[in-house]
Amino acid sequence: MNALRLQPPPLLFLLILVGLMAHRADARYLEGLNMNLGEALQFLREHDREGSTVCNKVMTAQWNFATNITDVNRRKMLEEQTVKLKFERASWRKTVSFAWSRIADPYARRQLKMIAVKGRNSLTDDKFNEMHHLIMEMKELYNRVKLCPYRKIGAACDLTFETDVAKIMSQSRDYDELLHYWQAWHEAVGPPLKNKYVRYVQLANQAAKLSGFADAGDQMREIYEDDYVQQNMAEIVSAIMPLYKHLFTFVRSRLMERYGDRIRADGPLPAHVLGNMWAQNWDGIFDLVQPFPGAKKLDVTLDMMIQGFTSLRIFQMAEEFFTSMGMKPMPPEFWRSSVFEKPIDRDIKCSASAWDFCNKMDYRIKQCTKINTEDLISTHHEMAHVQYYLQYKDQPLLFQSEALPGFHEAVSNAIGLSVFTPQHLHRIGLYNNSTDDYESNINFLMLVALQKVAYLPFAYIVDQWRWRVFNNGVADMTTRWWELRLQYQGILPPISRTERDFDPASKYHVPADLPYANYFLSVILQFQLFESLCDISGHTGDLHTCDLYRSREAGRLLSDVLSMGSSTPWPDIIRQMTRGQTNRIDASAMLRYFQPLSRYLKRQNQIEPVIGWLTNHEDTALFAHWYLGNAGNLPTMAILPIVLIVLICLSL
Ligand SMILES: *[C@@H]1O[C@H](CO)[C@@H](O)[C@H](O)[C@H]1NC(C)=O
Ligand SMILES: *[C@@H]1O[C@H](CO)[C@@H](O)[C@H](O)[C@H]1NC(C)=O
Ligand SMILES: *[C@@H]1O[C@H](CO)[C@@H](O)[C@H](O)[C@H]1NC(C)=O
Ligand SMILES: *[C@@H]1O[C@H](CO)[C@@H](O)[C@H](O)[C@H]1NC(C)=O
Ligand SMILES: [Zn+2]
Repeated sequence: MNALRLQPPPLLFLLILVGLMAHRADARYLEGLNMNLGEALQFLREHDREGSTVCNKVMTAQWNFATNITDVNRRKMLEEQTVKLKFERASWRKTVSFAWSRIADPYARRQLKMIAVKGRNSLTDDKFNEMHHLIMEMKELYNRVKLCPYRKIGAACDLTFETDVAKIMSQSRDYDELLHYWQAWHEAVGPPLKNKYVRYVQLANQAAKLSGFADAGDQMREIYEDDYVQQNMAEIVSAIMPLYKHLFTFVRSRLMERYGDRIRADGPLPAHVLGNMWAQNWDGIFDLVQPFPGAKKLDVTLDMMIQGFTSLRIFQMAEEFFTSMGMKPMPPEFWRSSVFEKPIDRDIKCSASAWDFCNKMDYRIKQCTKINTEDLISTHHEMAHVQYYLQYKDQPLLFQSEALPGFHEAVSNAIGLSVFTPQHLHRIGLYNNSTDDYESNINFLMLVALQKVAYLPFAYIVDQWRWRVFNNGVADMTTRWWELRLQYQGILPPISRTERDFDPASKYHVPADLPYANYFLSVILQFQLFESLCDISGHTGDLHTCDLYRSREAGRLLSDVLSMGSSTPWPDIIRQMTRGQTNRIDASAMLRYFQPLSRYLKRQNQIEPVIGWLTNHEDTALFAHWYLGNAGNLPTMAILPIVLIVLICLSL
């Protein structure tokens, strides 16, 4: 952004450059001296062509593996991934030989920047390889974990997370059984990963510093192109907190009915009884907390069966959703090569996903579709990803991506919000009771809130924790994790933690080196996008009853926003999306969506002793006892100022 447009003579230029590096805070990036625009454009053209080929090969190999799990296919996939890594490393070297931040053409500058600020390419070959090896090891360790069943002595310890443990966590209502799996999981992934993670932090920080960033968290935040992203996220969390606390309080009162005095009436909740290993979404316990158990459910599975639905028909229906809005149909390759059903002749990864093969033609979905409501929604969700791919396919390769992290998911979820309404399901002939009754509406909003409102604090803290570790070092990582969990989620470990535990590793994205703040933003953005599209479609009435089906106006606005890809800074895209109302990410649309539920919860919670949770010394002692040491009864907060004073004096 601070492009120097003058072209001073070389010697003078060098002097200025040295001066800039010594003094200016924003001369931060690692870059070279080549300011030749023609060469930069030439390089970008080659990068686009070669990059598309490399991407196509790696996607094909990944597809072949994901739809046909064999050792041969795994090996081919790893080979192609290595080729891609090499290509990216070579492209990065070339890019940082340019004085890219001073290249005059804004599109070229933006593309060069995307290459320059990504990855750990500033490390030496040794350390670069060590880093990638380390991440792969951590992922494998995580993926290989198998647990022993509860109270079955002598039984084989072969429960995997995906197929068994996740289901038990959401379905079991036995406090001790849930505790067994929670504890076993954290024991299996935490301690073995801890030392590797410490080394990972060291290498990630080295790479970031060599590229000109303060630390690896600073580098992760660069993609937001916004110095205030942390503050923006903190504001969003504060805005959501009152709703979250009301939801939390209501859920706690229902859990007390179930688990008795194991739940404290004004306290935080133990992490293992919310229907999910990380207590991140709570829809697993919907049956315990639904406000009106007798009300009609929004479930069209039976109607789909009666009408003889096939998976192909579901996909055609999803396509018609988009074409009804004037958006793009799926291309022929999509119908030819997608996987709609679980094949019987080979092993396949069944998680639904949408694929872009980087050749402007080939797009696919892989889904082991079942004929039920959930997969009807998920088909629309995945196809919205493909719609986004199709919309930005004519951008340069580097701009063929989401407008900001989390936007892809936000678009797909906004479509999901529209499809999963009685209004839409009625219009496609699957639901006859366009129920406007209060009880079904509140039940419905409760379900969505357990998925999305409950999730926000968790989605917030993962990168907050990670960025603090990158910034402050690896001491007391597990304590820091629980401090955040308690502060934002009101969640406690069900049993005492010790220094050898490493609970953050229980979440895949931590050892797998995958960012998380994007999930947080995707929740907020989906409501912001949904509300904008509903406004332009002429919807009136409660936001949660809006259906975008057949709205050409909504289709046009959405196409315009999606077709920009990442070619434009995201505040401009938000401004366009909201038709000039704002250029910021904000929570107000989400709060409006949940307003009817919010009113209901406030009334219900009137008899509760506390909205939210009160924390006492025993709570914090579950995860902070070792560094409290001999401090007796002093709570953590009383010690902090003392520690701070000492640190400040030393650093002066
Ligand atoms: C699965 O992959 C193997 C190679 O490992 C290949 O021989 C086989 O034909 C593939 N099966 C299908 C159905 O594509
Ligand atoms: C809904 O009602 C219409 C007529 O009122 C009927 O033709 C249709 O089969 C019904 N659909 C379902 C899913 O019950
Ligand atoms: C509509 O809902 C009411 C009450 O829930 C029920 O009695 C009625 O049978 C339903 N009608 C249809 C067509 O599903
Ligand atoms: C957003 O809009 C405000 C005024 O509406 C403006 O001052 C600000 O610079 C804009 N921010 C960005 C990042 O474009
Ligand atoms: Zn998705």
